[in-house]
Amino acid sequence: MQKSRCVSVCFFVSRKPDPKVRLKRRGERNMIYITGDTHGELHRFSQKKCPAGEGDCVIICGDFGCVWDGSAEQKYWLDWLNEKPWTTLFLDGNHENFDLLKRYPVTAWNGGRVQFIRPRVIHLMRGQVFDLDGIRIFVMGGAASHDISSGILEPDDPDFYLKRRRLDRARAMYRIHHISWWKEEMPSEEEYAEGIRNLEGVGNRVDFILTHCAPSSIQDLVGGGTFRSDPLTDYLERIRVQCEFKRWFFGHYHMEREIGEKFVLLYETIRPLEDG
Ligand SMILES: [Fe+2]
Repeated sequence: MQKSRCVSVCFFVSRKPDPKVRLKRRGERNMIYITGDTHGELHRFSQKKCPAGEGDCVIICGDFGCVWDGSAEQKYWLDWLNEKPWTTLFLDGNHENFDLLKRYPVTAWNGGRVQFIRPRVIHLMRGQVFDLDGIRIFVMGGAASHDISSGILEPDDPDFYLKRRRLDRARAMYRIHHISWWKEEMPSEEEYAEGIRNLEGVGNRVDFILTHCAPSSIQDLVGGGTFRSDPLTDYLERIRVQCEFKRWFFGHYHMEREIGEKFVLLYETIRPLEDG
């Protein structure tokens, strides 16, 4: 595994230094790693598999899936992740429980807005530009779900159970509003506008762009035309044209693939951001 450039520890420590975090000595290097969708499955972060160490951070490109049902099991896994020696950052995908996520307070952190799920598990909010110790990153989560071709069921529909039985029998692709699907999977107009404003504030120049889905033209290359463009992929296409960036990492399509020199589709691998 190649090592990327040196970054200091200061951006991993939130408002108060965590006494459990050993500060690195001068000359030691912290790393930023990046990976794709986890959907609440954290096995890739076991000590044997994850290359990140003390003081490093790992960014998940959406569909974190650990703020999903608020169960005791899920709290256990969030605590488990929080005890790791690195800091976990995630942008949201389409498979997050946005009703739960919006309950966490919003805080300013390294130039952008975040939500602390745990002291070392942090949600990077949409349309933000973060300065991670000299590395400038633009983040835009969200995506349109591809697995709802048979529709969305409303829990208060008087025919809910009947419809669900029929859909299950047909093995149809459907989801349930506020249980397994949320309209907030797509950004709001305010979030789109904030992203544009924040990018303009840095002269439309960043080091890295991290999103859950891809710009429309890149999505076409990934899916060979099978994925339809939507307002978010079109928005990202505009950013692709307007902005200068070194590399753009995204998840969502559950594949590992490099598209040209700049675009990296991630799934289960964990790789250094800068050498990725
Ligand atoms: Fe996903």
